[in-house]
Amino acid sequence: MAIQWFPGHMTKARRQIEDKLKLIDVCIELLDSRLPLSSRNPMIDDILRDKPRLIILNKADLADPEATRKWLAYFRAEGHVAHPVDAATGTGIKEIPEQVKLLLKEKIDRQIAKGMNPRPSRALIVGIPNVGKSTLINRMAGKNIAATGDRPGVTKGQQWIKTGGNLELLDTPGILWPKFEDQDVGYRLAVTGAIKEEILNIEDIAFFAVKYLVKDYGASFQERFGIEKLPEDLENPDEIVAVMEAVGRKRGCLISGGRVDLEKASRLLLHDLRAGKLGRFTLETP
Ligand code: G4P
Repeated sequence: MAIQWFPGHMTKARRQIEDKLKLIDVCIELLDSRLPLSSRNPMIDDILRDKPRLIILNKADLADPEATRKWLAYFRAEGHVAHPVDAATGTGIKEIPEQVKLLLKEKIDRQIAKGMNPRPSRALIVGIPNVGKSTLINRMAGKNIAATGDRPGVTKGQQWIKTGGNLELLDTPGILWPKFEDQDVGYRLAVTGAIKEEILNIEDIAFFAVKYLVKDYGASFQERFGIEKLPEDLENPDEIVAVMEAVGRKRGCLISGGRVDLEKASRLLLHDLRAGKLGRFTLETP
């Protein structure tokens, strides 16, 4: 299987982020609530080092709320400040400046003790493609999208975007690359659309999704697609094909002879899944 990550991209991305770290007080690491570990760059600790970090579990609206609670506890147990957000509608956004303030409390207190008026804290958003970086920046910017320029320490061409709550964001986020040497990590990323489908076979991605949905969300999946009997052996490809055929029939993916077009059924299934039409789901647990 030809899945891999991109060392060239990663090296360049890493350098770009390291350059930006010099300009900021805090890093906002954006993860996908449906797959917090798979959407995390495994070198992130090494890249961010001791820079204060806020972990945001984005797309919380699409994830299983119980799983999100577990993931928040997991990251908090690791010593991080973690917060769930739905950047698309803005739920959880207004708490971000407060969370940053908590993270930087000592630094801010020191400035106040010296009689200084605390300057706005500066943040960089980092995350893998499609995790919602631009959506979050736009949300947080509100109407302040065209904001300050020309501040000391700002490299040419970079702008700070004002948000509420004495927090400024660097306008260009840091793009991290997911690492998917592990085949299942690749599939999870593909199920959510975080990596291009062409890298993997669309039917394989849908099969992976079906296995997971049947295992963890069997009842609602069965009801939605009118499946008579859920597979008992998830390792038996014939049983998964039977489920995919039921999905295809339900979604009208028939070809001549009444057979099901599995490729089309796979596409529709993944489309519905990503759009949240099959309910909220999380693809991995801590
Ligand atoms: P990026 O900058 O990290 O690459 O991601 P971007 O903001 O472009 O977001 C990628 C997709 O994820 C967008 O959908 C965006 O609307 C969606 N998205 C971001 N945050 C959330 C969230 O919290 N919840 C949900 N449900 N969706 C979110 P798209 O289909 O690519 O674009 P669009 O049709 O929404 O414009």
